[in-house]
Amino acid sequence: MSEDEELYIQVTDREGNVHRLPALSGWRVMEIIKDAGLPLKAECGGALECATCHVYVDRAWMDRVHPKSDEEDEKLDEAFMVKGNSRLSCQILMSDELNGLEVTLAPEGE
Ligand code: FES
Repeated sequence: MSEDEELYIQVTDREGNVHRLPALSGWRVMEIIKDAGLPLKAECGGALECATCHVYVDRAWMDRVHPKSDEEDEKLDEAFMVKGNSRLSCQILMSDELNGLEVTLAPEGE
């Protein structure tokens, strides 16, 4: 039994439903969300080229998620309805410290 099996994230979808998803350390949050079948496009597969993996990180978690890189910040400019707690979920790596992380799927552009 790996302790990783205990990890989870909590994702609110665009209808406001909350999903508790099992998470593995080292996985991108984007992969965890897609693996669970939630509607996140993530068109570029994590290459930081599409901005369609946009999520809002719950304010309580903002300090615990590692800061954005300049590249992520630039790519976020292309996302729809960007807020102060916007992140590209392919750039957040799951770790023990992020156990219970809460994010909300951002609306999709037009
Ligand atoms: S999946 Fe394309 S930027 Fe994250």
